[in-house]
Amino acid sequence: MTAASRITPFMPERAVIRSIIPMAQDNTLFQFTVDSEALANCLPGQFVQLWVPGVGESPISVCSGRKGGNLELLVRKVGRVTSALFQMQEGDWVGIRGPYGFGFPMDDFKGKDVCLIAGGLGVAPIRSVFQYILEKREEFGRVIIVYGMRHSNDLLFRPEFKLLLRRRDLEVFIAAEELTGPELPPVSVQLGRVTDLINMSHVGPSFETAVCGPPVMYKYVVDELKKKGVPESKIWLSLERHMKCGIGKCGHCFIGGALTCKAGPVFNLTALKMLPEVVECCQ
Ligand SMILES: Cc1cc2nc3c(=O)[nH]c(=O)nc-3n(C[C@H](O)[C@H](O)[C@H](O)COP(=O)(O)OP(=O)(O)OC[C@H]3O[C@@H](n4cnc5c(N)ncnc54)[C@H](O)[C@@H]3O)c2cc1C
Ligand code: FES
Repeated sequence: MTAASRITPFMPERAVIRSIIPMAQDNTLFQFTVDSEALANCLPGQFVQLWVPGVGESPISVCSGRKGGNLELLVRKVGRVTSALFQMQEGDWVGIRGPYGFGFPMDDFKGKDVCLIAGGLGVAPIRSVFQYILEKREEFGRVIIVYGMRHSNDLLFRPEFKLLLRRRDLEVFIAAEELTGPELPPVSVQLGRVTDLINMSHVGPSFETAVCGPPVMYKYVVDELKKKGVPESKIWLSLERHMKCGIGKCGHCFIGGALTCKAGPVFNLTALKMLPEVVECCQ
């Protein structure tokens, strides 16, 4: 099936698994060859629906941010669909539809200082943001990347972060709550939490901030950003909710009056505060 033959937004496009790159623990990076321009040019923060034939579909964040490059998805093996994907080989095909949702407002970020904050698997969409920025580095101001995780062994994209840490045009902070394993990672990982890193960084009122991580992290990150003087209008949070259709039809992702798949998954904090019963981070 080609992109041209797609007749409804529900229809997945055939995507061939070009390479499979195991990462830390149960996380693997899948690179796909896709025909459609839309899938090759997803925007940072958007998601796609990944369909494993005979098994089902799951929403997965776009993890690549280079224009026209391979579509890359970082997948954690947790259940039926992801386990079936992990059984597949290079050269096999899956169905992918999308991209869907509002991602991070990259056009608004241009010309501004930007701070990217990732917790755990949240580094997947945040990677799409920094790849996008690094392609047009001169169009952005100061760039800070903050990445926290539970164990240092969970560090994802290790070789990529090693290179990022060497760049003079980025400030990169990485911390783990536990430094474990016989070998420390070959990049400098400090002992601590994401919030310690934010505190240590020079993020301030001029920064647009993009945040993605486990829900429990958001309240503390937002508090810390506010302490640093970042206004709510410059705090952008990616939310994860149970999703089925991905296109605003099934209602599974309903959250406080909005459908996350249509209105999000990236929300500005000021907009989130308008939604009743939403997030602890807003209180
Ligand atoms: C917008 C969005 C982006 C996502 N991006 C990624 C990504 O980049 N990489 C990745 O590995 N996963 C991502 N996920 C999560 C992924 O969609 C779920 O883990 C999915 O359920 C896996 O499918 P499965 O059939 O393997 O697991 P299932 O068999 O469906 O479920 C396994 C377990 O996860 C629980 N679960 C399922 N979905 C969610 C959810 N959204 N929130 C909390 N618990 C859930 C189920 O209740 C069950 O306990 C994303 C989800 C959303 C909504
Ligand atoms: S996932 Fe169906 S309405 Fe959002």
